[in-house]
Amino acid sequence: MNFELTEEQALVQQMARDFATKEVAPLARELDREGRWPTELVRRMGELGLMGVAVPTEHGGAGADAVSYALAMEEIARACASTAVIMSVNNSLFCDPLLKFGTEEQKREFLAPAASGDKLGCFGLTEPASGSDASHMATFAEKDGDHWILEGSKNWITNGPHADFILVFAAHDRHAGSKGTTAFLVPEGHPGFLPQPRDHKLGIHAAHSCTVFFERCRVPKAWQVGEPGMGFKIAMATLDGGRIGIAAQALGIARAALEESIAYSKERKAFGEPIANKQAIQFMIADMATELDAARLLTLRAAAMKDRGVRHTQQSAMAKLMASEVATRVAHKNIQIHGGYGYSVEYDAERHYRDARITEIYEGTSEIQRIVISATALKG
Ligand code: CAA
Repeated sequence: MNFELTEEQALVQQMARDFATKEVAPLARELDREGRWPTELVRRMGELGLMGVAVPTEHGGAGADAVSYALAMEEIARACASTAVIMSVNNSLFCDPLLKFGTEEQKREFLAPAASGDKLGCFGLTEPASGSDASHMATFAEKDGDHWILEGSKNWITNGPHADFILVFAAHDRHAGSKGTTAFLVPEGHPGFLPQPRDHKLGIHAAHSCTVFFERCRVPKAWQVGEPGMGFKIAMATLDGGRIGIAAQALGIARAALEESIAYSKERKAFGEPIANKQAIQFMIADMATELDAARLLTLRAAAMKDRGVRHTQQSAMAKLMASEVATRVAHKNIQIHGGYGYSVEYDAERHYRDARITEIYEGTSEIQRIVISATALKG
């Protein structure tokens, strides 16, 4: 087994690291405190090819692979988890399904501008009364000649307040369960598509999300993605890729926390010596570093499987489960190592702690990942 990155993967990683260090990290604390959407960073990510990392160049992307995408995500998230999830939603939840399931016309009209960063995409699956139970959605699509009329609402839509396009899922047949769902594209400003003001959340303050309403929103058949009935499978296949992105985001948060723990423990003195000399601290650092590495290996394995075009549902779920829970544990220990300063808003430790928590919830909670993993495992 070869654990070496290709030349291209190493280049993408280095480019993302340089950008994250020089341009993202200096803004991260301010973005978080003010809950400010990072317009300038989103634009720069477009210029650098980070908004469509694994989208072929002929469709406006950078033409790299899923491993490069995961590596880049980790770098951006290490600097700012909010900026990273904005990138992740556009890459994994908007561009990737359009690349796989979109028509040539949809690729030209919706994918190319999103992959190049000129426009921004978002993903509408979750509803007020159905998060984990994604196939039981209330949003309805009614056929109207060669159009569909969408009616309902979606919530927690990351990028929603700023997105130019939404990929939204609606039931067209309430009695057909997961086979009664269809996917649609809707551009911002289209009559009946009504994004609401942004949500206020525990963390990732600069990555805005909102509820969106569809009120007799009439869309042409040309905006239907895939065939009627394919929507749930499109959503699930999309989340197989999305969970790699969130796993990589969690790695970035955990790495930032670990690096801060190492630096602080070397400089902070107690009982006449740096606390890094204390075995209590050394053991914490050892656990943090080991868990982070294990999570990274799972994440890169899932990404490598995606690149090979093999089904990676279980591996993505394992990566996301592990990386998100590791991020929370590492961020928790980082606060512990910093003592009182870890609890202060003057340090980044509390931001990582708040930002890590959502990675255990969105794109499928840890409980959903365990369902997905055990379903495959029990099949044998
Ligand atoms: N790829 C392709 N097809 C899949 C699939 C996958 N990964 N997973 C399931 N399917 C297919 C199944 O094969 C099945 O098809 P057949 O009937 O033809 O066999 C069909 O879909 C239904 O599958 P299940 O019976 O397993 O479906 P279920 O209703 O039991 O649900 C679930 C399974 C895993 C619980 C699923 O509902 C799920 O993943 N829920 C979590 C949803 C989620 O992650 N939401 C996140 C929202 S997005 C977000 O958070 C964005 C953000 O802001 C950042």
